[in-house]
Amino acid sequence: MARFLVTGGAGFIGSNFVHYTVEHTGAHVTVLDKLTYAGSRASLAGLPEDRVTFVQGDVCDGELVDGLVADADAVIHYAAESHNDNSLRDPRPFLDTNVIGTYTLLEAVRRHDARYHHISTDEVYGDLELDDPARFTETTPYNPSSPYSSTKGASDLLVRAWARSFGIRATISNCSNNYGPRQHVEKFIPRQITNVLDGMRAKLYGTGENVRDWIHADDHSSAVLAVLERGRIGETYLIGADGELSNREVLRRILLSMGCDEDDFDHVTDRPGHDLRYAIDSSRLRSELGWEPAYRDFDAGLEATIAWYRENEGWWRPQKAQTEADYRRQGQ
Ligand code: NAD
Ligand code: DAU
Repeated sequence: MARFLVTGGAGFIGSNFVHYTVEHTGAHVTVLDKLTYAGSRASLAGLPEDRVTFVQGDVCDGELVDGLVADADAVIHYAAESHNDNSLRDPRPFLDTNVIGTYTLLEAVRRHDARYHHISTDEVYGDLELDDPARFTETTPYNPSSPYSSTKGASDLLVRAWARSFGIRATISNCSNNYGPRQHVEKFIPRQITNVLDGMRAKLYGTGENVRDWIHADDHSSAVLAVLERGRIGETYLIGADGELSNREVLRRILLSMGCDEDDFDHVTDRPGHDLRYAIDSSRLRSELGWEPAYRDFDAGLEATIAWYRENEGWWRPQKAQTEADYRRQGQ
């Protein structure tokens, strides 16, 4: 049985990967997660105890990380500070977790010759004009905009350097915007859904013309498994499902689906440096590894996500008041 060490496995995408792996493979998963404000043990509820072990700890803790990597066949590194708005308020934790945390894992991987897969983001490539026919590919130059995306870019470059200089067996994937259950209410889609459920108005940054390329978190997980199983060592794979939509359009669909008028929202202060458009060309992943997304109908995935938040108030309620208080302080 393969032994996976999944960092950040109590977060949104990491927990999705743990559920997906338990369901679709025979691997044993050890989760290493610090349980920051973004992590929740409840996101791992219902998983069989003989398949999943939970360890609370910091990816910057060299001794702890060394022991866990020594016992793993593969390390899948999701743990990160993940929210752009937080990185604009206080960048320091992003440098610690995203850069030093990755460095700490890479050194342990080097000592123990574990297979390493690095989870990254399309934001490392900066942004595109709305009318640009181009999409990001594996050779697009790095050009990150925010403290968050610059620390993710830095961590990608560390992985590339450790692969070339020390021969670690690494792959990297850069994925577009994920949606689905168990996403923190600070993020765009869950924030609007829970605002409506709470009788508050939805909040759109700036004009709402910004475009994001949406993919269901299950499809992200199936792509990561494909890279782990069949990806070429040393390669980068872009993960995306052709899901480009403007924020205004996503909000319109949420509002209509929840029985509101499509104008039931406030325009709020825009994010400084707000990236205009992300778009992924995932041809390499599809042609080399035969991967295809299972979720091709965004509206159906969105409906299921809205239903999940309706039915799981106990999961998101503890996050909501603090998140909205932080947004209010910056006029958002
Ligand atoms: P998240 O914020 O929901 O979860 C992050 C998890 O990491 C939390 O459980 C948190 O407790 C844990 N964590 C934070 N600092 C830690 C530390 N120092 N040590 C151990 N654990 C720590 O994030 P997410 O949205 O699930 O993103 C997961 C990964 O996927 C990140 O690397 C992110 O850059 C990447 N990614 C996210 C998206 C997206 O749309 N959300 C898209 C592409 C890539
Ligand atoms: O592209 C991948 C990235 O997607 C990941 O690397 C990040 O970890 C993840 O958080 C996400 O980044 P974004 O900044 O695109 O996601 P966010 O959910 O914060 O915002 C999505 C868009 O919605 C963005 O254009 C800002 C806008 N927005 C956000 C919020 C919270 C609003 O208009 N209103 C809001 O209330």
